[in-house]
Amino acid sequence: MLVLRANQQESHGRLSEPSLPLRELAGRGGGKGGREAPALHLAHWLATPDSSVHRSAVDAMAGLRLIPPKPSNFSSPVQVSIADVQAARLRIAGAVLVSPCPESIPLGEVTGCRVFCKLENLQRTGSFKERGARNALAQLHADQRQRGVVAASAGNHALGLAYHGKLLGIPVKVVMPKSAPLVKVSTCRRLGAQVELAGNSFAEAQARAHELAARDGLTYIHGYDDPAIIAGQGTLGLEVLEQVPKVDALVVPVGGGGLLAGIAVAVKTLRPDVVLVGVEPAGAAKLPAACERNAPVQIRCQPTLADGLAVPDIGGNALPLLRERVDKLLTVSEDEIALAILRIVELEKMIVEGAGATGLAALLAGKLPELAGKRVVLPFCGGNIDPAILSRVIEKGLVADGRLCRFTAVISDRPGGLAGLTRLIAEAGASVREIEHERAFAGPDVFAVSVLVTIETRDREHLEELFALLEREHVRFSRPANGPR
Ligand SMILES: Cc1ncc(COP(=O)(O)O)c(C=O)c1O
Repeated sequence: MLVLRANQQESHGRLSEPSLPLRELAGRGGGKGGREAPALHLAHWLATPDSSVHRSAVDAMAGLRLIPPKPSNFSSPVQVSIADVQAARLRIAGAVLVSPCPESIPLGEVTGCRVFCKLENLQRTGSFKERGARNALAQLHADQRQRGVVAASAGNHALGLAYHGKLLGIPVKVVMPKSAPLVKVSTCRRLGAQVELAGNSFAEAQARAHELAARDGLTYIHGYDDPAIIAGQGTLGLEVLEQVPKVDALVVPVGGGGLLAGIAVAVKTLRPDVVLVGVEPAGAAKLPAACERNAPVQIRCQPTLADGLAVPDIGGNALPLLRERVDKLLTVSEDEIALAILRIVELEKMIVEGAGATGLAALLAGKLPELAGKRVVLPFCGGNIDPAILSRVIEKGLVADGRLCRFTAVISDRPGGLAGLTRLIAEAGASVREIEHERAFAGPDVFAVSVLVTIETRDREHLEELFALLEREHVRFSRPANGPR
């Protein structure tokens, strides 16, 4: 695939003299001179981390300038083109996984679409963020490499930078908000990055990272608005177009918009007919307002299971890139995200973090009826979720699915009262997980007791069957707010 791309570039005459680095490149690949280097060798060489010849070769191949990491400035946003994304693809080849994008039959059954899952959770550091991180790091100049880089990140960007920084011999410092998931903090340290926990929000961590950049002469790499990051994330879109040639739509999670912007540039340039949908958690949605005002807006994020998406604004470079290209924007609730994570665990036997599950959440919630029967790609963008959080998320998902339910009932406090209730629950085929007795609040009848019952059922219909039985048997109980009516 890589050789094909290089040949394509050549046939368009873009490699006029840069055939020299290409020849070098082929020579280094494994002893074969000339341009007929096997794909494997070319990919291998492109992945070789630490060579300025390598960098200029890749950039010459794409006929591109280097885009040095640059903070955003909305008054003059930096353009990212399809050529930037294609160059990024060459630059990261062999260093970042071309993740598989298989069709999921079970997810297709529950959503009514043909669902293809782009498995970015399989990347070495568990997310797509390696794409942008590698692309940005590989373009640093020698003195920048030596001094090192700094970033603010809720986790995945930090992990991508830490891993590729180590491979490329570039020191990496990251500032994470104090609330960053433990698994991301400890993995980042294990990967060799210097981690500082600062601030109670992403914005506060970001301010501290800028301070360090100024103080220590480090290069600040913005996690979603650096043009090189956006171009790197766009490589995911290029891969999807090859892996699912008849793709009808992509449903993409949105944090600061770097991923959606990169994908939008790649996909809408090559396949303008593909529908692009951006999804945000309801408690961290900034894209509709930003698109309307055509300028980033600052929000205060609510806590969300999609912690990777909890950033306070959309990038000033990312916004114009995605604004003109995205077809639909949606939000999903915390219950919908939890249910999507649960479905992925159950049906795909896979762990995907909240951010990566938002696309499926939108489909499961019936928010994209126009995609019924269509080929829909869901980037499973990341898999980094604390095990302790995962168990809570699964419980939340079970509640949202009507399979874990808590209700109160008032029963007789005489012998056999509780047994009568549990007999009915057993008769309905439900399972008791926990029962709490409460005498003082059961009302004026001193021979009555209030019980708080937690039960497990197969699904909502099953729960409704149980409630119908309790009603027939004249049990005094109150339905939970999110249970069947
Ligand atoms: C797993 C995951 N998905 C999606 C995103 C969104 O990416 P962006 O901030 O570029 O919109 C992030 C951001 O960190 C993430 O970690």
